[in-house]
Amino acid sequence: MRKKISIIGAGNVGSTAAHWIMAKELADVVLVDVVEGVPQGKALDLRQALPIERSDVRITGTNDYGETANSDIVIITAGIPRKPGMSRDDLLHTNFKIMTDVVKNVVAYSPESILIVVSNPLDAMVQAAYKLSGFNRERVIGMAGILDSARFRAFISRELDVSVENVTAFVLGGHGDTMVPLPRYSTVAGIPITELMDKATIDRLVQRTRDGGAEIVKHLKTGSAYYAPSAAVAEMVEAILKDKKKIVPCAAYLEGEYGINGLFIGVPCKLGSNGIEKIIEIKLTPEEQAALQKSADSVKELVGVIGV
Ligand SMILES: NC(=O)c1ccc[n+]([C@@H]2O[C@H](COP(=O)([O-])OP(=O)(O)OC[C@H]3O[C@@H](n4cnc5c(N)ncnc54)[C@H](O)[C@@H]3O)[C@@H](O)[C@H]2O)c1
Repeated sequence: MRKKISIIGAGNVGSTAAHWIMAKELADVVLVDVVEGVPQGKALDLRQALPIERSDVRITGTNDYGETANSDIVIITAGIPRKPGMSRDDLLHTNFKIMTDVVKNVVAYSPESILIVVSNPLDAMVQAAYKLSGFNRERVIGMAGILDSARFRAFISRELDVSVENVTAFVLGGHGDTMVPLPRYSTVAGIPITELMDKATIDRLVQRTRDGGAEIVKHLKTGSAYYAPSAAVAEMVEAILKDKKKIVPCAAYLEGEYGINGLFIGVPCKLGSNGIEKIIEIKLTPEEQAALQKSADSVKELVGVIGV
């Protein structure tokens, strides 16, 4: 039997995630939104693309959580996105209210599911989902690191004029201005980028990665990035459903790893059919550890405001 995925929030990220999942024929998809007609219309449109894509999954759009019952994975993208000049943190109170409502419904209908949280401010929202759901930490995962490292990889590949397939990148920390890209673990065909570019060039690419989301918001004026974010979600879904044991950066609840306790932060995780099957700890330099701690402190401040 095919696996079932529900996507809460049929906006830009949610519906585009449905598109990637459908195109890769990964699972049946239920799109849910509070706005009447939107999930139904988008699901119908996607369904009509199935014959062209040669994909036999089922796609449903609804305002009723009953249809999400017994989902294997639930992706939460409900919430408002940023407008120009706004930080992700400005979304905190509105999206926390939405998250509270969404998680209550998700848990009632899919108590065994794995949650992938996308809504911003990401680290605080995934912490809220973890606390509100009561799920164990293996089953609550935040999407940010794959996106942030994909942005870094895209910039590195353009700078060096090499295939994106040759480039791996490593990004730790929160999904925000304090994210911690690690150049010495970022490679081109196995060669650290520190051997291939001078420090000024790397610093420029790191800064562009940190500002990657804001640069797009500034162009779009309304709404924020969604193609790369939803592609990152699809990569997580594939790793879980195919039990790939794939190591990717995700926001995970730390219980002492990296010297951080009781907080979601971006770290390398092994994703498989049980969700986060292992958190990979690597040795950081004192400067990298300090940058990660600074990132954790800013997440802690946010979760303190909403009391989760
Ligand atoms: N983690 C990341 O890296 C990342 C990347 C991109 C976007 N985001 C975040 O993802 C969220 C969604 O972004 P988007 O561009 O898809 O926004 P969007 O406005 O296009 O879509 C959000 C959808 O959520 C729906 N919604 C609102 N309240 C709801 C509720 N209570 N129940 C169900 N649905 C509800 C809205 O009707 C809307 O359709 C934003 O918070 C954005 O900041 C995170």
